[in-house]
Amino acid sequence: MSQSPQTLVDLAAKVTELSQSLTKLISDNGMKAPTLEADSVTSYEGMTAEIFLMRQQLVDVLNDMNILAQGPSESIFNYVHNCMPDTAVLNILNYFDFWAAVPVDGSASYQDIAKHTNLPLDVVRRVLEHGITLQLFARAEQPSHVKHTSRSAALAKSAGLKALVSTILDDAGPPMSVMTEALRRYSVGKQELTTDMRENAFTLFHSGAPYGRKYANSWEFIENDGEGERKGWRQRNFVTFMNYLKDIFRLENVIKDSYDWKAAGKATVVDLGGSGGHDAFVLAKAFPDLDITVQDLPEAGPVFEKDVPAELKSRVRFMAHDFFKPQTVQADIYMIKLILHDWPDAESIKILRGLIPALRPGSKVLFVDYVGKQGNAAELPRSIQQMGTATDMRMMALFNAEERPVEAWKEIFRKADERFEIQRVDANALTFYVAIEAVWRG
Ligand SMILES: C[S@@+](CC[C@H](N)C(=O)[O-])C[C@H]1O[C@@H](n2cnc3c(N)ncnc32)[C@H](O)[C@@H]1O
Repeated sequence: MSQSPQTLVDLAAKVTELSQSLTKLISDNGMKAPTLEADSVTSYEGMTAEIFLMRQQLVDVLNDMNILAQGPSESIFNYVHNCMPDTAVLNILNYFDFWAAVPVDGSASYQDIAKHTNLPLDVVRRVLEHGITLQLFARAEQPSHVKHTSRSAALAKSAGLKALVSTILDDAGPPMSVMTEALRRYSVGKQELTTDMRENAFTLFHSGAPYGRKYANSWEFIENDGEGERKGWRQRNFVTFMNYLKDIFRLENVIKDSYDWKAAGKATVVDLGGSGGHDAFVLAKAFPDLDITVQDLPEAGPVFEKDVPAELKSRVRFMAHDFFKPQTVQADIYMIKLILHDWPDAESIKILRGLIPALRPGSKVLFVDYVGKQGNAAELPRSIQQMGTATDMRMMALFNAEERPVEAWKEIFRKADERFEIQRVDANALTFYVAIEAVWRG
């Protein structure tokens, strides 16, 4: 049965209904509703699954209203006109830390900001003028002064949010602008997307060495960009970003629930590609018998050393290790969390095979990853689906990789080596995470 078309007024009624229900739920849960002012809460802290779902339904209706309010053609025109300047301005404000140039409870002049950011006054003014249209800063009472809004203040208050913007816009954003050319060169006329890592938008974008040298992949770039003390700044930033993701998506429980750590007892664990150790710290605190080696690229090391709590130092350590090289640490459990989705199948298989030299019969591999593609995806609000589809596009641009369904991960284990026996698969539809436990039968 076809539905009658939705009008602006129908949608406005839905917005009212959802806004009222959401406001009530927020208040019933003792939470504070955000405002547009600088002193607002920075997020829906303490949000339940019900509130999250309702909020995303509201976002969907608002997005549809936005289309109807403009009309189909102009909704495209306005989007196309604005989206690149919008992201460029957010990235500039973030990169040059305009956030810290303005006191959260006061205002700053364009001149002050130019001094703080070391940018020409005219550039500061023009960037801010566009930022203000996005609720990133607002005009203050004094002429040529700006003050924070809740959005810019959130970035001033949170190093994690700032790191997220930097990683997604400044590291991963530019290659996405050449996806058309990468697809034209390497994938047009083929049955499937090329999975050759030399044939993606990242390598095409970096082939002209815009940052001073050519980088083979995103990790090499993140690890090596910058001179002198600045070298590795993108990796340090990335570590902060991953830590922030853990906090906002409350991944502590995903990590703790992904395995029966208590039953594991006095186990040794390698956290492969464990970044600055945020997951290892969670596990070591909750399970005092675990002994964990965090392995990652060298520039994650200094962040680990800065962050590792003193009481965990005897049980949690950092080791620089390239996971494409043979594993040298013998452990009971190898955790691989949010690693393989960054790589095409061939590289994912290589990473799993890299473990084999250290595996003993009974060694466990615990794979934990985000499942952007769920069977029930089409039933979810579109704004939730976008979380998976947007990551999927980013994976395509950077790595020729993709968000995979659970079955595909099992297949990767099987292709890596028949001696990996999958013992458990836990896909959680609410958290979007899957945990796969494999035992080595070598
Ligand atoms: C998406 S992050 C996941 C971090 C962490 N496991 C988590 O779940 O939060 C991917 C990690 O892989 C690391 N990585 C990339 N290439 C690597 C390599 N060749 N050897 C070791 N680590 C690598 C990156 O530095 C980064 O910390």
